[in-house]
Amino acid sequence: MANWSVTPENFQFVAKLLHEQCGLVLESGKEYLVASRLTPLAQKHQAGSVDLWIERVRDGRVNNMAPEIIEAMVTTETSFFRDLHPFETLKKFVLPELIERRGAERRLNIWCAASSSGQEPYSVAMLLHEYFPGLSTWRVNLAATDLSHAMLERARAGRYSQLEVNRGLPTPLLLKWFRQEGAFWCIDDRLRKAVDFAPINLTRPWPSMPMWDLIFLRNVMIYFDNEIKRSILERVERVLRPDGYLLLGGAETTLNLSDAFYRVESLPAGFYRRKSSR
Ligand SMILES: C[S@@+](CC[C@H](N)C(=O)[O-])C[C@H]1O[C@@H](n2cnc3c(N)ncnc32)[C@H](O)[C@@H]1O
Repeated sequence: MANWSVTPENFQFVAKLLHEQCGLVLESGKEYLVASRLTPLAQKHQAGSVDLWIERVRDGRVNNMAPEIIEAMVTTETSFFRDLHPFETLKKFVLPELIERRGAERRLNIWCAASSSGQEPYSVAMLLHEYFPGLSTWRVNLAATDLSHAMLERARAGRYSQLEVNRGLPTPLLLKWFRQEGAFWCIDDRLRKAVDFAPINLTRPWPSMPMWDLIFLRNVMIYFDNEIKRSILERVERVLRPDGYLLLGGAETTLNLSDAFYRVESLPAGFYRRKSSR
């Protein structure tokens, strides 16, 4: 079973499936990734090897495996207050400005697209509760979506290992917002209920949604090709309020992909706005 590669045909099959179903690009050289991430699935389905199992899927001897393959192949790396700077900037500049602009409506719509196991939206929820208590009387819609049902389930449960809470979560916030249950830390219900988790595959048609004041689209576009990045940014433009903010990951940009956005150079970290807001 411990064969850390797959045949070119099996690799191509998995790469095509991932690209067609969720836009992920798997370049050649990543055969080891297919082997290591699909081996547990092959074992679960009692195949003699990962290659034998992919062959069974390819020739239709086992059906409906695409969702399991996708779940196994996506990279779900995340952490609380990931990269720190974006959250500092949110606290100091972006949220105070948005709150002032929306003072008459008393409503704020925030979307974490590709939220993985929930650390990103829960970091936002903590920030809002800690530093903007006045929002408790506003209608704050904090939505978090992901392609992976397994990640959404984990996120909804709000239950994290010691290792996960050690990454990025300051101890005072851990002690204030989590309770220990055995080896795990469970997030306070006030935060858990503050986030609305739902499945959205960014490469498929999006459901109807409100216009967002702030969109987190971090560390997911890096896995897509330019055509898919362009089509996602086109749709982001349509659902971001003209004076709203888009936050991308450290290795992501709208440059050469969309003319609709400009990077807010005065803010550290990757905050973008619609050009029409200038
Ligand atoms: C590396 S994690 C990033 C999590 C979080 N945004 C962060 O920056 O920490 C990437 C997430 O994107 C999700 N993802 C991958 N392809 C997607 C797609 N086509 N639509 C929606 N989510 C997708 C994965 O399931 C995974 O949870």
